[in-house]
Amino acid sequence: MSGPTFVILGATGDLARRKLIPALYRLLGGWDKAMVLGVSRSDLGDEGYRAYARESLADAGFNEGEATKWCDSCIHFAQAAPGDGYGGVADRIAELESEHRLGGDRVFYLALPPKAYPGTVADLGEAGLDKAPGWVRLVVEKPFGTDLESARELNEIVHRYFPEESVYRIDHYLGKETVQNLLIFRFANALFESSWNRGGIESVEITVAEAIGVEGRGNYYDGSGVVRDMVQNHLAQLMTLVAMEPPASYSPGAIRDEKVKVLESLQPLDAESVVFGQYGPSGDVDGYLAEDGVAPDSAVPTFVAMRLAIDNWRWQGVPFYLRTGKGLGRRVTQIAVTFHDNPVRFFDQTAPDHLLMTLQPDEGFELRVDVKEPASDMNLRQIPLTFSYEEEFGRLPDAYETLLADVVEGDQTLFVRADMVEEAWEYFAPILDPPTPPYLYPAGSWGPREAESLLHHERGWTTR
Ligand code: BG6
Repeated sequence: MSGPTFVILGATGDLARRKLIPALYRLLGGWDKAMVLGVSRSDLGDEGYRAYARESLADAGFNEGEATKWCDSCIHFAQAAPGDGYGGVADRIAELESEHRLGGDRVFYLALPPKAYPGTVADLGEAGLDKAPGWVRLVVEKPFGTDLESARELNEIVHRYFPEESVYRIDHYLGKETVQNLLIFRFANALFESSWNRGGIESVEITVAEAIGVEGRGNYYDGSGVVRDMVQNHLAQLMTLVAMEPPASYSPGAIRDEKVKVLESLQPLDAESVVFGQYGPSGDVDGYLAEDGVAPDSAVPTFVAMRLAIDNWRWQGVPFYLRTGKGLGRRVTQIAVTFHDNPVRFFDQTAPDHLLMTLQPDEGFELRVDVKEPASDMNLRQIPLTFSYEEEFGRLPDAYETLLADVVEGDQTLFVRADMVEEAWEYFAPILDPPTPPYLYPAGSWGPREAESLLHHERGWTTR
């Protein structure tokens, strides 16, 4: 079976090494004919890039013998720097495709620093690489712009050469198995979907907590902050999957239409519904200001919590709480759905019922319900009904494996459409650069105490 030519622009970057090469090995390893062409400014040559790919596969734990065989037959390299034009790359692709008798289907993956995107897209187009003997697809990594204006400009350049049907904007959260399962959970289980509305649900919390700090990315992060880094993309995606209406069909267009409608239905953000934080030192752990590349007096937030309201029939009056940050208590991504209490209480219940969907780590679901303690008078206790992915299915594929397979299949469901990117930038515009300094929180805590005051109850955040 003839596979595609997979061109990695930015072939020697961190993303290519840690994610793309291992994912491509799993994906293309089984094809008789498929080719990876690494393109970068360094002068590696085929052999140099094969050695690089072998190291990446060894780090990912693959068998050396088989990985070497694959690298020798599939991996190639072309030198080109952004701005040089891609005439040479175009010739090399055509030459290799003819040598390996490939059908001429091509993927171009922009694994470059974002400021190189516009020039690179234009270079591809000018070299005629927006057309191919087979199909051609362009994959763009986040961040897609840094605000509404830059995202519009980038969309405009991309669309000058590549129609939206061939553009795959990556948000790696959408490739996580557990995130995809949100749709299945909702739309394949009528039991939950029937109460998935203001009648059944009291509130929704979405937490994406990271224990790590900025990990050597201070330079980038200090120009970006938590809303650009995590909220406009990953949290917005999670929220729309939880809140969207059932699509007209299970097709990329219909699903993406419904997600955009959620963003369109959000009430404008008001300053009182948002709390910013920045992690400070704690014990031996440095605070944000001590990170390399961070300005010593930086007011860039590393934490944000917010209360959003969706103005539609399904969600009127149901608060959506979003919270994310670095330097927090533990790494956990979780959606906590709290159901309404009974209208009349017969028993001394402990808490309302919760559904916890843990997206990472320990992926799984947990429904917390009340039961009576045996041999007690009427003592109730909340117990979990649980499902664990690991126990049930073992290893989960890496998000990049899933997403790259979809690019090759031509399935755009898990990719972000141009209008959604713009809609999300527009919505979060008022808080991209917060007007007030963030509250300090000690590294390893759950963020500033002020974030508790956003909640409409005294129970505290469900995820901790
Ligand atoms: C990236 C952000 O998009 O997502 C990082 O730039 C963040 O700052 C990362 O650490 C989190 O991804 P994951 O898959 O580890 O939850």
